[in-house]
Amino acid sequence: MAADAVTGIGAMRALLAPLRHRDKTIGLVPTMGALHAGHARLIERARIDCDCVVVSIFVNPLQFDRKDDLDRYPRALDADLALCTSRGVDFAFAPTAAEMYPKAPVCTVDPGRVAEHCCGRYRPRHFTGVATVVLKLLDIVQPDVAYFGEKDAQQLAVIRRLVSDFNVPVTVIGVPTVREADGLALSSRNRHLSPAERRLAPSLYDALTDAASHVAAGMTDAEDVKRHAATRIPTDERVRLEYLEVVDPDDFQPVERIAGPVVIAGAMWVGGTRLIDNVRSSPRTTS
Ligand code: PAJ
Repeated sequence: MAADAVTGIGAMRALLAPLRHRDKTIGLVPTMGALHAGHARLIERARIDCDCVVVSIFVNPLQFDRKDDLDRYPRALDADLALCTSRGVDFAFAPTAAEMYPKAPVCTVDPGRVAEHCCGRYRPRHFTGVATVVLKLLDIVQPDVAYFGEKDAQQLAVIRRLVSDFNVPVTVIGVPTVREADGLALSSRNRHLSPAERRLAPSLYDALTDAASHVAAGMTDAEDVKRHAATRIPTDERVRLEYLEVVDPDDFQPVERIAGPVVIAGAMWVGGTRLIDNVRSSPRTTS
């Protein structure tokens, strides 16, 4: 079946209600469009698990802290719909900003301490925008399962807390990061990289994997881990490491002494493009 672009909230609910009544499982993959193989992996997973797959495509103004970033965010609805069709998506929900926010929202979701560090520190109110739109999408689609990428690990942590704190009846599945052959995580923003910048971009993942191997090898002081990892970032005027943090996987609070599983997360500017990535690690247990 071809993916239909549904633009109205009422229309989306009306299309899904009969399926729900027939006990069909509904999977939701929330996206901001400009779909690539990373998004496709989430869709494939939903297609395996669920009877009906909904992909939302909405560039959410509420989560952008800079207007220029919102303006230059890639939009490619026709190509997105073609990808959805080719992957067997049942419905592409692509509302306008006026449909999602007829009035500027008064009630928003504050993700508290989960949004305090890492990206939350550098992008004020970003995760409020993410949590608010995801709560709206979960309420509109009312899926049984919702799929998010581990690439945005802090976002995934925020959403897990959102769903648990507000008793949203949905199962959240995290899907592993899809990468280029040289390790660069797929991202809609990669298309902004010039060829020279593209060659510099994998150094973020290099630094994170370096940190992960030090953690696995028994380095327990997070400052030492970060210091070692930062040496993997090339000295180049186009590259600026914004942060590299060792955090608790559940609440994204910084860890000083590493004693269990951690997420090592980083953000790096290459030219005018901000890249984020993360890896998990834990001290190897010796028996
Ligand atoms: P967007 O950046 O379009 O990403 C949509 C989903 O795809 C997110 O769950 C993200 O983690 C996942 N994703 C992106 N690149 C990936 C990769 N290389 N491998 C695996 N998964 C990947 O994240 C958002 O949109 C928005 O914040 C959203 C949740 C839709 C709320 O507006």
